[in-house]
Amino acid sequence: MTDVLILGGTGWLSGRIAERWMDAGASVTCLARGTRPVPYGARLVVADRDEPEAYDAVRGRDWDEVVEVSSRSTHVAAAAAALAGDTRHLTYVSSVSVYAANNEEGADEGASLVEPAALGDDGDYARAKAACEAAVRAALPHRTAIVRPGLIGGPGDPTDRFGYWVSRFALAEGGAVLVPDAPVVRVQVIDVDDLAAFVAALGAAGFSGTVNAVGDPSPLPAVLAAAREASGHTAEVVPAAPDWLAAQGVQHWMGPRSLPLWLPDDMPGFATRSNAVYRMLGGALRPLRETLVRTLEDERARGLDRARSAGITREDELALIAALRSGGDLHAGG
Ligand SMILES: NC(=O)c1ccc[n+]([C@@H]2O[C@H](COP(=O)([O-])OP(=O)(O)OC[C@H]3O[C@@H](n4cnc5c(N)ncnc54)[C@H](OP(=O)(O)O)[C@@H]3O)[C@@H](O)[C@H]2O)c1
Repeated sequence: MTDVLILGGTGWLSGRIAERWMDAGASVTCLARGTRPVPYGARLVVADRDEPEAYDAVRGRDWDEVVEVSSRSTHVAAAAAALAGDTRHLTYVSSVSVYAANNEEGADEGASLVEPAALGDDGDYARAKAACEAAVRAALPHRTAIVRPGLIGGPGDPTDRFGYWVSRFALAEGGAVLVPDAPVVRVQVIDVDDLAAFVAALGAAGFSGTVNAVGDPSPLPAVLAAAREASGHTAEVVPAAPDWLAAQGVQHWMGPRSLPLWLPDDMPGFATRSNAVYRMLGGALRPLRETLVRTLEDERARGLDRARSAGITREDELALIAALRSGGDLHAGG
């Protein structure tokens, strides 16, 4: 039986990767502190990777595949060093954030990277991810797959980004929804389960190399229109100019008081990365509508009006729409 070790497995993507490996008949062990459960059928080894003995319980066993998702460079380097001698193949989940520039449309895996951070200096996510990539490559040369996802969507997303739009259109029902007027911005989403299946397939094939795991680029307005259609929203959509939104303190992309997926116009390469290698290796990309429908079902189950880690509250949104309609500014009283 194939023996797989997931460093993680209680998280969102790593849990789905564990499930895909179990679907393929593998025996799956997850190493984590156990703050959340592992998927049914997986074994949990409780360990804190901040501790030097973290890998003692999983060392000395021949692992067919190790999957690593951490962004902590000391964790990644220590695990790779501890397990390299016992591991046939390792897959590291990195990010397209490691690329140095976002100005070229369609750039492939050969594009320049940011300078890797010094080990342990993990304050900058992109540079920490680059350091993690370097650490696994150095420890397991020619036995490492590096997967660089872009925006991941689908049920269970802890970042709350992709689900914001379909959830907001559903919550608004007969009410207006505020959208950024951003016709040139693109979105490249990959469904969490397409990504998880791909990660498991790469491990099974023993692929060595680097691959972007990103969806096809779609204009943001088309993604918002698809989200609206999936939710059944038919009321008004209120576009706001980027400068006006910025003046109201509304952020791009993610986090509190943001309009998720909205990017500045001057980042044309961020959500247009090449997925040619992903497709060549057999990576699947389900239709956007399917990911939206799955996400909406999950959003309804979690509560459409719950506190979110990305987006604006409905109350804030209605106040912004009122200010925009009156030709004014939210903080100046409209
Ligand atoms: N979301 C996106 O759109 C996006 C885009 C690009 C790339 N990515 C990448 O995708 C991956 C997401 O993976 P994920 O969803 O599984 O991440 P996650 O939800 O953050 O899970 C992290 C895992 O690591 C474990 N862990 C954390 N600290 C630990 C410690 N001190 N000791 C032992 N275990 C520890 C956690 O378990 P315990 O808490 O139980 O210990 C959990 O199983 C990341 O590599 C991320 O950088 C995400």
